[in-house]
Amino acid sequence: MTTDPDSSGQTVVRLDDVHKEYGDAKALNGVCLDIRAGEAVAVMGPSGCGKSTLLNMVAGLDRPTSGTVQVHGQDLGTLNETGLALFRRRHIGMIFQFFNLIDDLPALDNVALAAQLTGTSARQARRRALELLDELDIADRKDAYPAALSGGERQRVAVARALMNRPALLLADEPTGALDSRSGEQVMDLLIDLNQIGQTLLIVTHDPRLADRCASRLVEVADGRVARESTLEPTR
Ligand SMILES: Nc1ncnc2c1ncn2[C@@H]1O[C@H](COP(=O)(O)OP(=O)(O)OP(=O)(O)O)[C@@H](O)[C@H]1O
Ligand SMILES: [Mg+2]
Repeated sequence: MTTDPDSSGQTVVRLDDVHKEYGDAKALNGVCLDIRAGEAVAVMGPSGCGKSTLLNMVAGLDRPTSGTVQVHGQDLGTLNETGLALFRRRHIGMIFQFFNLIDDLPALDNVALAAQLTGTSARQARRRALELLDELDIADRKDAYPAALSGGERQRVAVARALMNRPALLLADEPTGALDSRSGEQVMDLLIDLNQIGQTLLIVTHDPRLADRCASRLVEVADGRVARESTLEPTR
């Protein structure tokens, strides 16, 4: 699937002149970035250039030193910590290199919890969690604890969790970074499928194959800035 850069799709992410300093260190140095609904954007760049910091700004996990971050029409800078947490739970799904599952909950409850935190009943949450695990082909592992799952299985559980609240935006930081190539391919296939049914994706990766396969646009970051943007031809 390609995304027409001129299509007037709804803007899901808008970063305007975002700076982030940690003490004397400048992690972001004037980032501007727009992402429209249905796009799949890959962010690449050398270690330490600010990719995870950028993702954390979009997720509202951290705040810029200056500049504005809008997601799904909401200026995150106007929300207090509680408002940010609620916004994130409702509108943003996140997957990470090391899965970040809760070790003492079985797979099904790891997934269901995401909806219970937004006020969905336990029964409804578990029903939807099971549907998602089924769609991701991992329902047979619903009672397994994370320690008993393979890396690829853990990441599929993490994807299910991220999708529980039907987020406007799915963020991924090195989603295949800890996986062997076969499990990595499965996660890529999953991301492609999700994008094809309209899920907006923002993926940070060091893996050019992930960018090539999954993204319609590449954003290259260097020294805390967007150094280059290009449209990708899908190689699926
Ligand atoms: N919480 C923090 N406190 C202090 N400095 C930080 C913090 N988070 C990030 N930095 C610094 O900001 C810069 C950008 O870090 P960031 O984690 O965004 O890089 P990255 O592009 O994700 O790197 P990698 O590819 O290695 O994951 C780095 O110099 C890093 O040391
Ligand atoms: Mg990083």
